[in-house]
Amino acid sequence: MSKTPKPKREPLYSERDRINLRWLWTQYLRKKAPWLIVVLLMILVQGFVYQQFLSMTESGLRVIFESGSVADLVTVCIVVFVLFAVRGLMSYLVPRITIWVSNDAIYQMRRDLIAHMMSLDLAYFERTKSGEIIQRLVGQTQALGVFVGQAVANAVRDAVTVIIVSGYLIWKNPILFTTAVVVLPFIIWIMNYVSDRVKIAQGEAETQMGEYMNGIEETVNGMRTVKIASQEGVETDRLMQGTGAIRDLMNRVQVTQALVMPSIDLSSAFVYVLVIGGGGYMVLSPNFDMDGAGIITFLLGMVMVFDPARLLALFFGSLPSNLVVLERIRRLYDEVPSITDKPGALTEFDTGGDIVLEDVHFSYSPDHPLFNGLDMTFKGGQVSAIVGSTGSGKTTILSLLTRLYDTKGGRITIGGQPIDQLKVGALRGAYSVVAQDIVIFNNSIWENIRYVNPGATDAQVWQAAEDAEIADLVRARGNAPVGPKGAQLSGGQKQRIAIARAFLTDAPILLLDEATSALDQATEARIKSALDRLTKGKTTIVVAHRLSSVADADRIFVLEAGQLVEEGRHEDLIRQNRLYAQLYQAQKQGYDKT
Ligand SMILES: Nc1ncnc2c1ncn2[C@@H]1O[C@H](COP(=O)(O)OP(=O)(O)OP(=O)(O)O)[C@@H](O)[C@H]1O
Ligand SMILES: [Mg+2]
Repeated sequence: MSKTPKPKREPLYSERDRINLRWLWTQYLRKKAPWLIVVLLMILVQGFVYQQFLSMTESGLRVIFESGSVADLVTVCIVVFVLFAVRGLMSYLVPRITIWVSNDAIYQMRRDLIAHMMSLDLAYFERTKSGEIIQRLVGQTQALGVFVGQAVANAVRDAVTVIIVSGYLIWKNPILFTTAVVVLPFIIWIMNYVSDRVKIAQGEAETQMGEYMNGIEETVNGMRTVKIASQEGVETDRLMQGTGAIRDLMNRVQVTQALVMPSIDLSSAFVYVLVIGGGGYMVLSPNFDMDGAGIITFLLGMVMVFDPARLLALFFGSLPSNLVVLERIRRLYDEVPSITDKPGALTEFDTGGDIVLEDVHFSYSPDHPLFNGLDMTFKGGQVSAIVGSTGSGKTTILSLLTRLYDTKGGRITIGGQPIDQLKVGALRGAYSVVAQDIVIFNNSIWENIRYVNPGATDAQVWQAAEDAEIADLVRARGNAPVGPKGAQLSGGQKQRIAIARAFLTDAPILLLDEATSALDQATEARIKSALDRLTKGKTTIVVAHRLSSVADADRIFVLEAGQLVEEGRHEDLIRQNRLYAQLYQAQKQGYDKT
């Protein structure tokens, strides 16, 4: 787990926040503008109702204090009731609309995030923790939706109430109002202090939450290794450390936020005392036009301002944490895919042509160069084999051919056509691949095979299963899912599913990366004869450690630390008596011994 970074001061409302908010508005809210205007109107009605209530109360009090007509009093009561009924109706309608708007916005935001995530290069997923991605797609979008749908709407309502009611109070008695708001600077200072600290802590909390989710994911997926190595204790500690960090950070956020309420309560106490004292003096003194009804109404007005003002303060307290969440979501868009279709990319090309690597440069990271000017030609329609020690770059060559990664220099062509001029989908569609690390989904074996070609007929799927020697298992297991990542299958069974997928894809170019390494020799021999039928007339590239399985290839390439050190037919390489011949001899002796 990474160490908690040192808190650093961030501006309360940065340029980046402004851009993010504008993005949120134009992407997800602007099209709902008519509805938002309706909401705003209803909120204005609510504010207006409060102002009317105050003025009615004042008249009602005067009726009681002065004229004493019961009929007038009844009228006042009815009007007050109607006013509050209207406010109640608005209180129902406003959330109905805003919740609908915000849930739809979250839905669309998730849809866009998913689409964007799918478009990203494989490299992104190899360096990003999955917990971080999950956190974005699940928790952060949800939090943002609640913020937009409830918090902002309520804040607007409260702000409108504060403005309208204060306006009314200022109009009634500016001197008394001014006395009342002397505490405002204090409240603003508190809010700034809180926002600042919340923003820092929230950022750390989001990071920790991602780490935590990632830890869970890793532990759950790696449970086999965890258990065999008896590392349950270590993993428990790791997760507990994460939860502990989250607890501390959330404490920090919420304890700071908890400062808001009491400081506001204290300031309201000040205000009430000032109003009662000052107002009382005004009533007693003949210099002011103020009576008992006026002062009571004014006090009521202050109460009505203070409650929403307090909620507004809370809202501003939570604003920074939501800006942080928004920023985290936005950051996914800073990632842009680099492997995309160029304008005018082609879909048609000679899939049977030679596959040529010319002066290919590539490295996963700048400090570890792998290929430095690699030249190779895989003849169209023939079987080529790549052999070499582990880590020499065999799988990487296949990744470059399929454009899971792009070369950093030089070029790769198929039938003379540079592959980066082709549509990515068309290029990848030209390959049947049995990858070294096989991905099995938690579904039936049948569905796992069909995954690569959903349009295939049942007969085709069965044929592929027969060819890959896995049909018996398909029959035996039926529709039973095979567990997460195929956990309920043996290594060889997974490999045969992958081979069946290659049979079912039946694309013109075949890439086999250690495709039969986990099979016993009898099964391998049976699959090999089926594979020979499959590879007939197709360009095939086989990667294998077991040299005997590639001895009959048309051409063998020997790779060593990213360099092509030998190439030729098996007999030629044996005759040259260099690296290949030595490896072959070593393996042969190994077999002879057993
Ligand atoms: N996704 C990756 N990110 C960073 N480095 C990588 C990545 N994949 C492979 N490498 C590094 O690149 C080098 C070549 O890896 P590659 O997988 O191509 O080897 P290989 O010849 O297929 O080995 P093996 O026989 O073990 O499958 C290795 O040093 C490896 O550590
Ligand atoms: Mg490999």
